[in-house]
Amino acid sequence: MGQEKILLEHTPAARKVLAAYLAVSGTVLLLMMTLGLLMRLAQGSLVSLPADRFYESLTVHGTGMVGVAGMGGAAILWYFLGRHVRLNVPVLAINLVAFIVGAALILGAAFIGGFAAGWTFLFPLPANSLGQWSEHAAAMHLSGLLLIGTGFLLFHLDTGRAILSKYGSLARALGWPYLFGRSDETPPAVIVASTMVLIVNTLGLVSGATVLAISLVNLYLPGFAIDPLLAKNLIYFFGHVFINITIYMAIIAAYELLPLYTNRPWKVNRPFLVAWTAATVLVLVAYPHHLLMDFNMPRWLLLVGQISSYISGLPILVVTGYGALMIVFRSGMRWTTTTALIMVGVFGWSSGVIPAIIDATIMVNTVMHNTLWVPGHFHTYLLLGQIALVLAFMAHFSQGADWSKVRLNAWGFWLFLIGGLALTQSFLYSGKQGVPRRFAEYLPDWVGGAQVGALAALMVVTGTGVLFAAYLLKLPRVMRAS
Ligand code: HEM
Ligand code: HEM
Repeated sequence: MGQEKILLEHTPAARKVLAAYLAVSGTVLLLMMTLGLLMRLAQGSLVSLPADRFYESLTVHGTGMVGVAGMGGAAILWYFLGRHVRLNVPVLAINLVAFIVGAALILGAAFIGGFAAGWTFLFPLPANSLGQWSEHAAAMHLSGLLLIGTGFLLFHLDTGRAILSKYGSLARALGWPYLFGRSDETPPAVIVASTMVLIVNTLGLVSGATVLAISLVNLYLPGFAIDPLLAKNLIYFFGHVFINITIYMAIIAAYELLPLYTNRPWKVNRPFLVAWTAATVLVLVAYPHHLLMDFNMPRWLLLVGQISSYISGLPILVVTGYGALMIVFRSGMRWTTTTALIMVGVFGWSSGVIPAIIDATIMVNTVMHNTLWVPGHFHTYLLLGQIALVLAFMAHFSQGADWSKVRLNAWGFWLFLIGGLALTQSFLYSGKQGVPRRFAEYLPDWVGGAQVGALAALMVVTGTGVLFAAYLLKLPRVMRAS
């Protein structure tokens, strides 16, 4: 079995755009985390936040964080994929500009226009605000989202063009000839992962753009409508796919960086290829687990959602979790900020699946749906999994050629990890106690969990701030050297 070596080096222009991706992602991340802290403080009765401001913050935090995760994941994917196939730097830059303009529109729609319909923008809520916001504010939010989605679509189309021009077909890029015994050459892990991401996210983005365009027209022409259940399916298909894919992009950092730090190869073998092919299908068909409480959904679709949820996370999890432990075991790897955060990321991914699978069971969802159990599930995945991987990549990127000599940024790392664990556990525990999600005002019994969460959030914000400051401080030297 053979694997190709790194073929291309990044140009200074590409490195600059990637550095800007990480700088923008880090800035927006800290801003969104501060909004999260504010919401937890308000739920814990430690600060007073009027209900309209709470829901504006919730909308911006939910949408903005998903965008940040996407940008961080895209930077990781591009950096490693671009060492094997020829990617287009202007397309990378266009996606960044679309994100910045889109994010500004979303911020303006909420904090100037009062838009507060949540990241889900469920049809026909954007057009029915009962005076809370105007149709222009709703249009601003929806256009911002559409712009960001279009940027990502271009990004994926470019990766698709580059992969196809080298590998000829998506099947080859997924390693099928090797899988079916017709070749003894496997594509590198980053090619397999990027191909899965390309297929899945393109479908998700097209579905999102469709419903966004219809909702936009509906704001001004109410007669132009869509069946609300169909709209909900399109929205959740898009949202589910987009956010899931951010972690599939970020995990590439583990595949590419652990070999560097352990001096051992990441093996692309049959189980690895089977897992990524299975995930390509399973991530797409698992989305109905968001609609388990919609009584008018076809029952068979909900069963597909439940069953595919059980199997969707597991294959890749097993190959990645097991692969990460095996590559590190007795390798003499040093604990730097990068390696420590990668292992946290793999842990966050592995543990996030447990509350997820519990809640994807229809019987359990009857009780747990819309409780804080759900933010408990996805903050574990996203904060301890996805964001940890992005921060790991940031640390590596900013160390340039010195990567092997750098030490652990202990304050940043431990504050992030301990705060992250406490925050996610406070969500999960409150969810187990039946505390609802998305409530601006809490009953006295619910306040304790929120206060613990607020303290934990403060630790996460501080830890992330320390890690991001280290990135910014090291950046100029690395950029000069490139
Ligand atoms: C095996 C894998 C997964 C399963 C079984 C799963 C299951 C679920 C379920 C059942 C819900 C709906 C909860 C409810 O509303 O009652 C949910 C929501 C959510 N999941 Fe997952 N999930 C998985 C993977 C992921 C991944 C990888 C991410 C992100 C990295 C993610 C992010 C989210 C988010 C953000 C929501 C909340 C959506 C909203 O605002 O309603 N999930 N998940
Ligand atoms: C300091 C770190 C963070 C804090 C303090 C925080 C806090 C919160 C709070 C308080 C909520 C509302 C919970 C509720 O009552 O329903 C929330 C929702 C949410 N958070 Fe975070 N969060 C943090 C990090 C993240 C990260 C890293 C991501 C993703 C990358 C993320 C994505 C979301 C999403 C998608 C929602 C759902 C919004 C909705 O319900 O519409 N958060 N977060």
